[in-house]
Amino acid sequence: MNEQVERIREEAAHAIAAAASPAALEALRVSTLGKKGQVTELMKTLGTLPPDARKNAGAELNRLKDELAAAIEMRAAALAGAELDARLAAERLDVTLPPRPHADGRIHPISQTIDEMVAIFGEMGFVVAEGPDIEDDFHNFTALNLPPEHPARQSHDTFYLAGAEADIAPKLLRTHTSPVQIRTMMTEKPPIRIVVPGRTYRCDYDATHSPNFHQIEGLVIDRTSHMGHLKGCLIEFARAYFDIPELPVRFRPSYFPFTEPSAEMDIGCSRAGGELRIGAGGDWLEILGCGMVHPKVLANCGIDPNEYQGFAFGMGIERVTMLKYGIPDLRTFYEADLRWLRHYGFLSIDTPSLTGGLSR
Ligand code: PHE
Repeated sequence: MNEQVERIREEAAHAIAAAASPAALEALRVSTLGKKGQVTELMKTLGTLPPDARKNAGAELNRLKDELAAAIEMRAAALAGAELDARLAAERLDVTLPPRPHADGRIHPISQTIDEMVAIFGEMGFVVAEGPDIEDDFHNFTALNLPPEHPARQSHDTFYLAGAEADIAPKLLRTHTSPVQIRTMMTEKPPIRIVVPGRTYRCDYDATHSPNFHQIEGLVIDRTSHMGHLKGCLIEFARAYFDIPELPVRFRPSYFPFTEPSAEMDIGCSRAGGELRIGAGGDWLEILGCGMVHPKVLANCGIDPNEYQGFAFGMGIERVTMLKYGIPDLRTFYEADLRWLRHYGFLSIDTPSLTGGLSR
């Protein structure tokens, strides 16, 4: 009996340690510890031994059983670990594979300019606000201090929506982004510091006017912001956007019903030899309208003009995009000509820098 136990112990231990797969291991379990396995068969012969020998042999067989069971369990764990390692190695993902460049996609110059402007004003603490393209008379005109008979309304060449004649509150396509000033002041408490890029509409069409165009509006309302802040903010913006640190800038008195005083901002340029060069001396080019928010506009929005004040500005996005990137005709922005877009468009990696706009 002892010899047999020793033999099984040696052979089985060997075979178990060498089992190459879970299936091979299972076969070994069956052939040793299974119903008809070697150890089980020996157990069955215990009854034929004299009582003393039976006790010893029984204890020895039980020890062998425990040893084999433990060895099988160990080997099973080792095999499972090896299988996992093999799967991990086989299913490895190479995350270092470079992305395929998009050869044809381009960012439209208008989107690019909006991104650049938002980056510059964002750095100054402005947040983006938006409003609807279809506006009403109140937000587009009346609340901005343009009463019904105001002559400035004519200059806007408004698109009214069908049925507007009979309506008491006619719907229209917003002629500027300024109605978002009203919407923001009526729903938010000062301090307010927003920029509003968006689509605007006027009945106009030539090389420098399109019926559908874009503006960016700015509005700052708090207790202390004054004309000096307006100038500092816009000079800083213009120099960053055009990426010309010493860009000459001047403010000319102007008129808008919703600001008082009002001004237009010009940047220095040269037209010598018929070529427009921004930042050179000699000539001026208007780029935006601005002013201190009119007390009546504040009051129209429920803000006490004795307590709060601030400034606003508005600028045509196409115009400054044409100036910065030398695009001669505004109508081409909307022709969806792929050759044009490949030439003037931007790659998605041309991210605007926060302080310097984007120079190419
Ligand atoms: N809304 C004006 C326009 O469309 C621009 C402007 C905005 C002027 C804000 C002053 C202040 O011409």
